[in-house]
Amino acid sequence: MPQGSEQLELLISPRRIAARVAALARRIDADYPGVPLCLVVVLKGAFVFAADLARRLATPATIEFVAASSYARGTRPSAGVVLSGADGLDLAGRHVLVVEDILDTGQTGATLVAALRRREPASLALCALLRKPGAGAGEVPAAYVGFDIRRDFVVGYGMDYAQRYRDLPGIHRLVGV
Ligand code: IMP
Ligand code: MG
Repeated sequence: MPQGSEQLELLISPRRIAARVAALARRIDADYPGVPLCLVVVLKGAFVFAADLARRLATPATIEFVAASSYARGTRPSAGVVLSGADGLDLAGRHVLVVEDILDTGQTGATLVAALRRREPASLALCALLRKPGAGAGEVPAAYVGFDIRRDFVVGYGMDYAQRYRDLPGIHRLVGV
């Protein structure tokens, strides 16, 4: 339930999400036939998506977590993304799939891909549940995208507004903030 002046409007139902996640898993399985994958899940927002995706994949997958947060987003656009957990990962020679909740500017994805590439994986690809217009601008070609959405702020299915709403099963547009 909304706790401030904001309201939620259902954008993508749990049913549609489930169908799309299953379709993404089928594509990933086709692209990595029997190849063990390492899913690198970007906390916190991607935790629900990654849990559903991992259980839909036939390809055996191990799961690692990294955390990313943007530094002074909006006020200093060139300010970086702060990553934690990427340095300790042993990805050498492994097939890595980064699992993100949403590509907005694409800055987080680009920073993460650059950091993980230094760990010399055999291959590196990105899977995002949602993508907003203009994301990446060619920098991070997302191999797998669940839904292209408008420039709305969305919550639910792992994604938050001030740490709230991650527990909602559907994806909602946040209005009135
Ligand atoms: P980017 O670096 O601009 O691509 O931002 C990506 C990160 O910002 C995502 O992984 C989310 O954590 C957060 N984010 C961007 N847009 C939204 C949104 O609409 N709802 C919730 N989080 C968002
Ligand atoms: Mg976030």
